[in-house]
Amino acid sequence: MIRPRRNRKSAAIRALVEETKVTTDDLIFPLFLLEDPKGKVEVNSMPGIYRLGLDHMLTEVEKCLNLGIRGFDIFPVVDERHKDKMATKSHDSNFFYIKALKEVKKRFPEACIMTDVAMDPYSTDGHDGMVDENGKILNDETLEVLGKMALTQAEAGIDIIGPSDMMDGRVGYIRDVLDENGFTEVSIMSYTAKYASAYYGPFRDALDSAPKSGDKKTYQMNPANQREALIEADLDVSEGADFLMVKPALAYLDVIKLLKDNYDLPIAAYNVSGEYAMVAAAAEKGWLDKTAIMKEMLLSIKRAGADIILTYFARDFAEATR
Ligand code: PBG
Repeated sequence: MIRPRRNRKSAAIRALVEETKVTTDDLIFPLFLLEDPKGKVEVNSMPGIYRLGLDHMLTEVEKCLNLGIRGFDIFPVVDERHKDKMATKSHDSNFFYIKALKEVKKRFPEACIMTDVAMDPYSTDGHDGMVDENGKILNDETLEVLGKMALTQAEAGIDIIGPSDMMDGRVGYIRDVLDENGFTEVSIMSYTAKYASAYYGPFRDALDSAPKSGDKKTYQMNPANQREALIEADLDVSEGADFLMVKPALAYLDVIKLLKDNYDLPIAAYNVSGEYAMVAAAAEKGWLDKTAIMKEMLLSIKRAGADIILTYFARDFAEATR
């Protein structure tokens, strides 16, 4: 008889035949930055995840570096009074988040810091692009703002720019702006296949960045479409992206696999806020084992083909596997 169970008979053998391993090297930890340097406020819909002022942010980054996590994606929480139609504060080098990014980079030059490029956290409309009087999202006008935002972030010393806005042509536009200004070494991780997903809810709570009207379906992709991801990926490659990202991760494992099979660039997957919240909520009720589910989730994302995983579980994972 052929007995596949022989390769499962002991922990040692199981380890020998293990195909996929997740390590802290694969992870990027998204962090929410508060304006008040001393602030620390838990996100209601994400138990265990906090919005952090600069002081706490520095402590958190240091702790994570010691645990082997070196990638961070920093998102500012912008007070309503700083928001406007044109997302002006997104490219104001005196605004708190740019100053904080500089500080983080200065303290921890060895950390790999990523930032988001999209108008939503800074815009009174709460959309990733500029909105006209009829509620239409203006693609080409938005590119100009995105270019300024990326440049200001690059000037702060950011390692990876993450355009999450899904405007057409943005990767090439941002690449040109960076290159023309001497930032040829700043990378672009494109949100290549970013779906119009309900899984972003807790993130929008954390940043108070939900759209004031309408939805994001004219720019984010339809969850029903897989092949459309190839169109987006072709464009991102030709426009100079360094990484291709799929977002969310769990409900889109097929898309991760598709991009992995068709492209040579590193593939990233964003294990988003809603995916974290579901597990954290069930764990609070005692219905699921948070640590076990986290490991299985991250494994599935890596097994599907992700080289890099952006996840709110990053520190939990590092602590659980130390
Ligand atoms: C901003 C942005 C979003 C996320 C990352 N960047 C939200 C959105 O597009 O509405 C979601 C991240 C998450 O849910 O964890 N454009």
